[in-house]
Amino acid sequence: MAQTLLVTGSSGLIGSEVCAYFAALGWSIHGLDNNQRAVFFGPQGDTRWNQRRLESSLPSFRHHELDIRDRAGVLALLREVRPNAIVHTAAQPSHDRAAAIPFDDFDTNAVGTLNLLEAARQACPQSPFVHMSTNKVYGDAPNRLDLRELETRWDYADPAYAEGIAETFTIDQSKHSLFGASKVAADVLVQEYGRYFDMPTCCLRGGCLTGPNHSGVELHGFLSYLVRCNLEGREYRIFGYKGKQVRDNIHSHDVACFIHAFISTPRRGEVYNLGGGRANSCSILEAFRLTERLTGRPQTHTYVEQHRSGDHICYFSDLRKMRAHFPGWDITRSLEQTLAEIVEAWRRREPRA
Ligand SMILES: NC(=O)c1ccc[n+]([C@@H]2O[C@H](COP(=O)([O-])OP(=O)(O)OC[C@H]3O[C@@H](n4cnc5c(N)ncnc54)[C@H](O)[C@@H]3O)[C@@H](O)[C@H]2O)c1
Repeated sequence: MAQTLLVTGSSGLIGSEVCAYFAALGWSIHGLDNNQRAVFFGPQGDTRWNQRRLESSLPSFRHHELDIRDRAGVLALLREVRPNAIVHTAAQPSHDRAAAIPFDDFDTNAVGTLNLLEAARQACPQSPFVHMSTNKVYGDAPNRLDLRELETRWDYADPAYAEGIAETFTIDQSKHSLFGASKVAADVLVQEYGRYFDMPTCCLRGGCLTGPNHSGVELHGFLSYLVRCNLEGREYRIFGYKGKQVRDNIHSHDVACFIHAFISTPRRGEVYNLGGGRANSCSILEAFRLTERLTGRPQTHTYVEQHRSGDHICYFSDLRKMRAHFPGWDITRSLEQTLAEIVEAWRRREPRA
């Protein structure tokens, strides 16, 4: 019998990648999504195109139109499917958006995660549960590190952070944004179901997760949105830090590979910082240059002095724990390759003259 996977947020960037990845391995896939991204971000965030893509390209895929806030519905689905593994990617994913919709944000990110964890405990407690967390659980504490200013980016001045931020970094007593706070609640709950109930759970604290299937908008999906602006000749707005703020970028395929590695040999209540690491990091200014090289089009932009509240000045993930626990896993896509795929995807999705 085929193994069964439940993916929440299946029409989103990471969810859809995970669906395709495991379907190719012969798993039977149950996707849960209600296109809430279009409610959060408007028509530009609509993910129905991705749902249709999965439905038409993956014979083993079945879509469930369900809201993770629907506690009884989630429990009924888990009891019906009893998946061999759960990958939870559904979320209100934007730092900035959360302030305008605090209840929707918390009900989705924190309570929705609790609904899934408790349903999993009742229906399939032995099944690995992978939760997409975020580096925003560290709040703006990384901004307290000594930084040095280079020509096009910020970098850590202290050699202790040469490999980036590790999982031992404090999540306490800093500014998180309401999004970061709701994700902390979910992150700690996922750890607790691992430690308290002995379930095989893990939190993946993502840096910038990206790839060709992102429906990038200004408030979420940095590289996807930046490329879209470039191709459409739209102005990209830089918020503070001279455009030298650094993000580490990981292709959604490499995220799916890691999720597979964890599901194959799960641990309990684990936490990993999942990003592109130093090698796949870039500042906004550097991303402009890389994109211009790929598209041949200039990136127009405006500069807004005020940085986004709680935004990281320099963040990249220390990947050493991931590599130590799962030596077969590593980053396979460079930043340049990933950007090239994003450019191609936007060109295919929205043909231009
Ligand atoms: N993309 C990133 O850069 C990034 C970085 C760090 C962490 N993450 C985390 O990774 C996860 C996946 O991110 P993504 O970029 O794929 O997001 P996404 O917005 O592309 O996908 C999320 C999907 O979840 C669905 N969804 C949202 N609320 C829902 C609800 N209440 N019920 C059912 N479905 C719902 C949306 O419609 C969307 O299709 C999220 O938890 C996010 O916080 C993402």
